[in-house]
Amino acid sequence: MSREVEDHRLHNTSANTPFDEIVARHLSRRQILQGGLGLAAFSMMGGFGLGSSGLALAEEKTPLSLAFEAIQGSRTDAVVVPTGYRAQVLIPWGTPLTAEASAWHSDLAMTPAQQAASVGMHHDGMHAFALDADSGSRRFLLALNNEYIDQDALWAPQGGPTHPDGLRPANEVRTEINAHGVTIVEIERQPDGSWSHVVDSRYNRRFTTATPMMLSGPVAGSDYVVTAYSQDGTQTRGTNNNCANGYTPWGTYLTCEENWPEVFVNTGERYADDARLGMPTDRGRYGWETAAGEDEQSSEFSRFDVTPRGERASDDYRNEARTFGYVVEIDPYTQSQAIKRTALGRFRHEGCWPGPVREGEPLVFYTGHDSRNEYIYKFVSAANWDPADAPSPGNEADRLAIGNKYLDEGTLYAARFDEDGSGEWLPLTPDARTPAGKTLAESLGLEAGDLAGVIIHTCDAADRMGATPMDRPEWSSVDPVSGEVYFTLTNNSKRTAEGSEATYTNEGSAIDEAGVGYATAPTNAANPRADNGNGHIIRWRERNDDGRFDWEIFVFGSDAEDKANRSGLTASNQFASPDGLWYDERGDGRGILWFQTDNSDNAVAEYTNDQLLAVVPASLKAGNGGAVIDDGNQDQLKRFAVGPNDCEVTGIFATPDRTALFINIQHPGNWPADGDALTQDATLPTSGTVRPRASTVVIWKEDGGQVGV
Ligand code: FEO
Ligand code: CA
Ligand code: CA
Repeated sequence: MSREVEDHRLHNTSANTPFDEIVARHLSRRQILQGGLGLAAFSMMGGFGLGSSGLALAEEKTPLSLAFEAIQGSRTDAVVVPTGYRAQVLIPWGTPLTAEASAWHSDLAMTPAQQAASVGMHHDGMHAFALDADSGSRRFLLALNNEYIDQDALWAPQGGPTHPDGLRPANEVRTEINAHGVTIVEIERQPDGSWSHVVDSRYNRRFTTATPMMLSGPVAGSDYVVTAYSQDGTQTRGTNNNCANGYTPWGTYLTCEENWPEVFVNTGERYADDARLGMPTDRGRYGWETAAGEDEQSSEFSRFDVTPRGERASDDYRNEARTFGYVVEIDPYTQSQAIKRTALGRFRHEGCWPGPVREGEPLVFYTGHDSRNEYIYKFVSAANWDPADAPSPGNEADRLAIGNKYLDEGTLYAARFDEDGSGEWLPLTPDARTPAGKTLAESLGLEAGDLAGVIIHTCDAADRMGATPMDRPEWSSVDPVSGEVYFTLTNNSKRTAEGSEATYTNEGSAIDEAGVGYATAPTNAANPRADNGNGHIIRWRERNDDGRFDWEIFVFGSDAEDKANRSGLTASNQFASPDGLWYDERGDGRGILWFQTDNSDNAVAEYTNDQLLAVVPASLKAGNGGAVIDDGNQDQLKRFAVGPNDCEVTGIFATPDRTALFINIQHPGNWPADGDALTQDATLPTSGTVRPRASTVVIWKEDGGQVGV
């Protein structure tokens, strides 16, 4: 019996009544049916496609009401949730996925093999994949990003990494590589309502920064990605800094490579794209390249130094970093290789979120580049959606072949937000015309028709087309009924005053120089606050077929006392640095927008640790022109949860029946309270000092009802 099943600290408040029965009593028969079938199907696959009848329903309905009391801010080593809710730690870093792996304990010395068989570090985006249509609210595969590492926690028993600034030992580097990537783990609910993972599930799996992967789409097989490892440019090893995520209507997971340039180094002359993306020129983030030498196999470490050393690209790893920066598709149900979908662009991808899915129409995915003054993008598939391509959960299907159909051919666009509240999608195709009147390929110095080159240089391409520099695009989510697309813009210390002159990276003097981006940029209509320390959420609606959209600012982050509190926030909902975001469709066109924060060093941070808030957009009357949420309409914007000290709250989904909400606590400083336990009450404050572990936290209502309402 696994350790977490034996853990009795999660008390069952309902005496001996199994939680399933409590849920059954609470929910109406209709809701149960939705949870088991209808809602489960669209929810586990991502809330796709209610279509126009759903919109009509939504317009007739009274919006949901948030039926919990907003919690106050908190600055403790504990998770805080509203009265009447439970919160449980699940699959913290180091949780063994197999019976062979050693049990976790707080003094465990991590090794490459142990880490490869355990949950990775620094949980971020995640999504659930049902194993069959009926049990999706009780048992599923959890696909979880492990974004980066805390070296102090990883190496705590030995007092930290050895030679952190010198030559790194091979097995330390292998362990760190194995702590990154993606975890696939089977999860199940216990009769008492708590959750555990299934040790040795045949689905449990890790993808790391060393796992062989395929490249697909325009860049695959091009000269841009030829390396000594893959002479034909179709393969690479590993995915790194997997931040947010996405999912497809055919049942696959999308994991997105964000802050990957820093694990590479180029001590010679960088490619323009390496410079544009900010690759280091002295040392990689953890010095992985310094472990190169006698102890390495197949250039496993030297590949992180991309300085050209051979005669040809096929002799060295000058192109290794060009095999990173993508949206990566994973079939969580099989042992198949992951595929990097290059058609969706190459940059610091935060995540990738599907738009409404409609039969006979192209699929749309929204994605953004999380850096200051970078861009929002969308990908539109060439193929039109065929509902026959949505296998039901658990059925055998070649999901990655379906992915080839929708994710390898299509058009990538960058967004321009205009002053008048409209905007335009700018195609990043070789023959697109730049505002200067050249073709995009010509403007980038590429051969005519070189789509791979445009993708490799996505950021420069968006520069040339006149995309709008944003305040760090983080997560997106789409209300599938209204079609409204939400996007968090977390903050931007490099946003300068209205009318000021932009400045440029890499000593550039204009945005259309090769390898040059905006170092600073003046305010614009969609990013209207200089030195934007609190961030905002924007939303838009696509127009039909003309490549344009209509946008508005949804809410401005602020502390309640700030003069520039443009959304009228109060103690019960003040926030800053919005990051994670999820539109939680509740059927009949009704839903809740949840958002999470990754904040530090401002007045809100003095008041509260990072948090999870909920808002019901449909409850809002029109704003006064500043933002949709203002001081007259925000009673349905409430703080729902607060994380422990030093953490970020990120990653979110709920079970199809909405009786359990899953979030992640990343980089906590001194939490969870019991350093040895796998599952435990997330709300217990830590006493003393523990080896901190990022963790998933499951939140549910004691009465078994739907979360939030
Ligand atoms: Fe990994 Fe942009 O957050
Ligand atoms: Ca993030
Ligand atoms: Ca962030």
